[in-house]
Amino acid sequence: MPARINPAKKLIVTYWTIVGLGVGAACAQRPDIVIADFEAPTYGDWSLTGTAFGSGPAQGTLPNQMPVSGYRGRGLVNSYNGGDDSTGTLTSKPFRIERKFIQFLIGGGGWEGKTCMNLLLDGRAVRTVTGPNTQPGSTEQLTAQQWDTSELLNQSVTLQIVDQATGTWGHITIDQIVQTDRKLSAPVPRETTLRVRKDYLNLPVKDGAPKRRMSVWLDGKARREFDIELADDKPDWWAFLDATPFKGKTVTLKVDKLPEDSLALSAIEQSDEPKAQKDLYQEPLRPQFHFTSRCGWLNDPNGLVFYQGEYHLFYQHNPYGWNWGNMHWGHAVSRDLVHWKELPIALYPDEHGTMFSGSAVVDWDNTAGFQSGKEKPLVAMFTAAGRPFTQGLAFSNDRGRTWTKYEKNPVLDHIAAENRDPKVVWYAPEKKWVMALYLDKNDYAPFSSPNLQQWKKLGAVTLAGDGECPDFFEIPVDGDPKATRWIFYGANGKYLVGAFDGTKFASESGPHSLQHGNAWYASQTYSDIPAADGRRILVPWGRKTDLFRGMPFNQMMGLPVELTLHRTEAGLRLLANPVRELASLRGRRHLIKPQPLKPGENPLAAVKGELLEVLAELTPDAAAEISFNLRGTVVTYDSKKQTLSCQDKTAALPQEHGKIRLRMLVDRTSVDIFGNDGRLYLPMGMVMASANRSLGVSAKEGETQINSMEVFELKSAWK
Ligand code: FRU
Repeated sequence: MPARINPAKKLIVTYWTIVGLGVGAACAQRPDIVIADFEAPTYGDWSLTGTAFGSGPAQGTLPNQMPVSGYRGRGLVNSYNGGDDSTGTLTSKPFRIERKFIQFLIGGGGWEGKTCMNLLLDGRAVRTVTGPNTQPGSTEQLTAQQWDTSELLNQSVTLQIVDQATGTWGHITIDQIVQTDRKLSAPVPRETTLRVRKDYLNLPVKDGAPKRRMSVWLDGKARREFDIELADDKPDWWAFLDATPFKGKTVTLKVDKLPEDSLALSAIEQSDEPKAQKDLYQEPLRPQFHFTSRCGWLNDPNGLVFYQGEYHLFYQHNPYGWNWGNMHWGHAVSRDLVHWKELPIALYPDEHGTMFSGSAVVDWDNTAGFQSGKEKPLVAMFTAAGRPFTQGLAFSNDRGRTWTKYEKNPVLDHIAAENRDPKVVWYAPEKKWVMALYLDKNDYAPFSSPNLQQWKKLGAVTLAGDGECPDFFEIPVDGDPKATRWIFYGANGKYLVGAFDGTKFASESGPHSLQHGNAWYASQTYSDIPAADGRRILVPWGRKTDLFRGMPFNQMMGLPVELTLHRTEAGLRLLANPVRELASLRGRRHLIKPQPLKPGENPLAAVKGELLEVLAELTPDAAAEISFNLRGTVVTYDSKKQTLSCQDKTAALPQEHGKIRLRMLVDRTSVDIFGNDGRLYLPMGMVMASANRSLGVSAKEGETQINSMEVFELKSAWK
């Protein structure tokens, strides 16, 4: 397909509407002329210098970039290629000004002359615009802007997009450049007052619409405040706000700015249940046994704690948007780590900031003094991401149903950079709490406290290749409770194995890699698993961009796995295996009898399904390559190299006595691969062709002995 940005082709769009671009300009005008929509794989006849713009339009967010929103379609100009330090220019062919305005979507750095778009007439910039941002922490959003070009009519001009900035916000994003006669209507502050009669306020969201600041006011105070991409007309989905604290009262909803003809405020509906989402939990891309939030964005698991038969799963959550932002602690509970029930939001942003990651414990001895009734208090420790970041506490005396922030927050002041993500563990020998905190770059520190309120720094831990979200815990070696080690790990799963005497963590080996997949980050292990169970259960964030386009939710949790520490020929290593409770999803079983697998054969040909678990033990021939085809996703074992690959990920899987064992769980958007009983842990996220229900196993080059093979059709955890 030729690049759509060729001005000579002048793609004419008659009904060109985009929220924020020209909404409200009702009268009939000449059709718009699209100069560039950046939907083609290349920049067409635009010319490039430098590396910042890549070789063609970016498909959304680039590696290591905060999520980009507000662009149209899939492609856009994004000069974050190679990070903030890359530079370059992107220049159009000359074109003629034929309309009164040039409108575009722009985001990124606000550096004059350095992160900008220029309109050049005879080589001279007659119009220029920068992105909006210069401060760390600002959002990657494109919004609509416009130049008045009426006095340039019929002139030949060129557009030049510039990235000559390095460092913070050293990049620019541009999309949808259009010539138009429609003037952008300036949005104005708007508000509405309503009496809250029901439990929920349903808010219309349009992904990619301009971000508005919305607040809920009661008795002269803003009780809720958040960013939301409000739909001015038809919403993509409905976010819901828990209005139970305001029931029977009159609140004012304020929005910082809205086009005057926006329907957003009048569309807000009250209801007894969150407004029905069509096919809730059955949407085409809804994972069926990986946790997702009902709607909105999710990232890190937080506050994993077990109490009174319930596994609590708190999580980083944006209840009002599809992208990262407005960090709250969402909340779900489960009795089996498989079936989850969502509860109301546990922690709302407050005057100290939005609620970043942290952990939770049962305070059995009431060391913090928060207990008010019979139940033991659950205490959560979190990062308040204000300026600067500090650490705070909240507690619950009703099994996690309601939460109170500690009135003397913060309990730990700012220490370094973006210090965050406290993970707390009880250190029984000295009856004290120990907390691992992320500080900066690869640096972490353990702290201790008698009461969760006063904290003393114990030392320093560096984790090469990792940052954020530490966990720190004791674990038996080969199941022997008398021989234990302590593990210190970071968000990427790089871990140290060592000893801890209550003051000093002495690393013995590492960092090692816990996992090798493409959908795994910021995991955490459960606190307070009863001694009789004794497992170390981990839940990761199944991080992967672009899996859930078009869905009312974004991101998923990874499968809960059980960690164990073993002596291996390489030294002490963690193994990860799916928690046994997942077996409760097993339905129909297909048993493949032991047999040689010859090239050209596929003993799984008759097995079909959407949600599947495949178990196999194979003895591959020295030369063999064995491939599983799981509904189109190929997993290949190379027995020469003794590695397993899936998409762009490859990891070692040494044969044990000439054999390998595989366990693979197939969900709608992922395949979790475990090799040799957890020696290899490879969680993968991908877009699956939903219509493909077939399974295959094949051998190449040499023969493979199938020692055992079975496939289970899995049930959905939502049914
Ligand atoms: C990791 C992280 C944490 C932070 C949280 C914010 O994914 O960046 O360090 O607390 O996400 O959502």
